[in-house]
Amino acid sequence: MAYEHILTETRNGVGLITLNRPKALNALCSDLIAEVSEALDGYEKDEKIGAVVITGSEKAFAAGADIKEMSSMSYMDAYLGDFITPWDRVAQNRKPIIAAVAGYALGGGCELAMMCDFILAGDNAKFGQPEITLGVMPGAGGSQRLTRFVGKSKAMDMCLTGRMMDAEEAERCGLVSRIVPAGDLVEEAVKTAQKIADFSLPIVMMTKESVNRSYETTLNEGLKFERRLFHSMFATEDQSEGMAAFVDKRKPQFKNK
Ligand code: CAA
Repeated sequence: MAYEHILTETRNGVGLITLNRPKALNALCSDLIAEVSEALDGYEKDEKIGAVVITGSEKAFAAGADIKEMSSMSYMDAYLGDFITPWDRVAQNRKPIIAAVAGYALGGGCELAMMCDFILAGDNAKFGQPEITLGVMPGAGGSQRLTRFVGKSKAMDMCLTGRMMDAEEAERCGLVSRIVPAGDLVEEAVKTAQKIADFSLPIVMMTKESVNRSYETTLNEGLKFERRLFHSMFATEDQSEGMAAFVDKRKPQFKNK
């Protein structure tokens, strides 16, 4: 499938999406978001794919929503066109997505990374919500997801001043899971995604669902949800295989059943 603004490839059970608008620092125009959604639809349907990586370039993961596309938009264009809502497709993906972020992840770029399941950062990564400098506020989840990641004080600091956070600060405050040298980032992210893709896909998907549920509900309801899913796993062949393999001291052969 040929796209204009992204590159796609599959590597051993992993779908790799590379944002590719280098002249605009991967600014997220509507067509790019539509292409990412289409690529994700394909990977969701592809039985051979167990996890996805979204990355950009070494200079920019993405420098935000496309300001040139937005600059002449009216309130009615934004409201009736339901601007930004198509981006939600990324957060709705059922298979896990790793964001591999090097360089700038600003505005919508930071928000897109936070829609993924976790973020691996290159050591040159810079995160920020600079919308305030443009006379707007984050519109793709920044004021909500960033607050859940880093807490109110730092989220306020980022959203109200528009300052950037480097990779070390992002790791310290829990925005990213770990930092790797920028040059090794994609390889490391794909390796991590391959590790996930080697596990049982239904178990991986239920685990993702359960962790995400913790954001949406009370502790007690979340624990009940987790317990139901955990019990249901004893109806899978992969649970029998995983535990039998441990007892037999061999590598499990998961069948996604
Ligand atoms: N939209 C459109 N074009 C962008 C862009 C964006 N978000 N970010 C960068 N570009 C373009 C620039 O206009 C420039 O294009 P031209 O060569 O045609 O002028 C090209 O990319 C290179 O950018 P710079 O020359 O500015 O590169 P730099 O290295 O000097 O600076 C930067 C890099 C600090 C990231 C700077 O480009 C910048 O501040 N970009 C805007 C960041 C921003 O404000 N993002 C938030 C967008 S709003 C949003 O995302 C809303 C939301 O919540 C959904």
